[in-house]
Amino acid sequence: MPVMVVHNDLPSNDFSSLFHLVQSHDRSYLHTRDNVSVLASGTSFYSRVMPRNSVHFGFSASAMHWLSRLPCKLSGAMNHLFLAHDSSEAQAFRSQALDDWRRILTHRAHEMVPGGVFMVVVSCLDENGKSPLQYGIGVMHQVAVRMQNEGILSEQEVQDLTIGHYLRSRGELTDRSLLQRCGLEVVRAEFKRPPNPIFQSYQRSGDAAEFAKSWVGYTQARMEPTVAAAFKDSTLSLASSGRAAPWTSRTKTELFFHRLEQHVLHDPAKHEYNGADRMLLCFRKQM
Ligand SMILES: C[S@@+](CC[C@H](N)C(=O)[O-])C[C@H]1O[C@@H](n2cnc3c(N)ncnc32)[C@H](O)[C@@H]1O
Repeated sequence: MPVMVVHNDLPSNDFSSLFHLVQSHDRSYLHTRDNVSVLASGTSFYSRVMPRNSVHFGFSASAMHWLSRLPCKLSGAMNHLFLAHDSSEAQAFRSQALDDWRRILTHRAHEMVPGGVFMVVVSCLDENGKSPLQYGIGVMHQVAVRMQNEGILSEQEVQDLTIGHYLRSRGELTDRSLLQRCGLEVVRAEFKRPPNPIFQSYQRSGDAAEFAKSWVGYTQARMEPTVAAAFKDSTLSLASSGRAAPWTSRTKTELFFHRLEQHVLHDPAKHEYNGADRMLLCFRKQM
């Protein structure tokens, strides 16, 4: 049976690297399967990506915790995990996440053929409403606040570090009335706490410096766009000389990640699980 694979990401994605990989990797489905063709679509998953009743199997990994917009900026934290449940900020994030999940499921249900399956691996909360990600995000916030206290960052720059993601609970992800309205049923919902291979390698080697470097490198790859966009070029008055020294967005970003590395080095064990838990979900469109 002929199969068409359509890769989807934001228009800003580097589709060229994707196509190089898919065309050249010896384990690529293009080389290990017959009758498969590949296309790409640069369309947000908050929009309709595929024609009605055309998708037999949809898959998304580690992407749908990104909200369509930031509901508000936070001054006392970097993400929603630190907010008091009843605060207006927490409510704004919850309601944005609910609306976004409804949009995602409505569009995917429209695109799927009856009986089609949509598999999602999505960052989520654990059964106590917590996440191991919280520790690392808290450390990043402490680093930013210290830089603010030293006059390197402004209050606005610290607020601009707010992360526009939301980790949903199992209940939010499998909301029965929402799924019914979309004509979807849950056929699988599995909670996973992924191991941290960088920490495992540290346990084997005992090299804390290497662990701190690798772990912060990994964090930097995911967070640098947010951090670099938040930190602006500015000048800092030096109390000792009364002169003003330039601080570029780049030097502030470098200092931020350098200090994060020092934190990790100080207590590596705290970073054993410093990523988000995942929920693996399979939805089927009713016939
Ligand atoms: C952590 S990466 C995961 C990439 C890949 N799925 C994987 O598992 O390796 C998250 C991806 O989601 C994409 N993304 C974020 N928001 C999106 C949106 N609204 N529509 C489509 N893609 C989006 C990002 O551009 C990024 O490539």
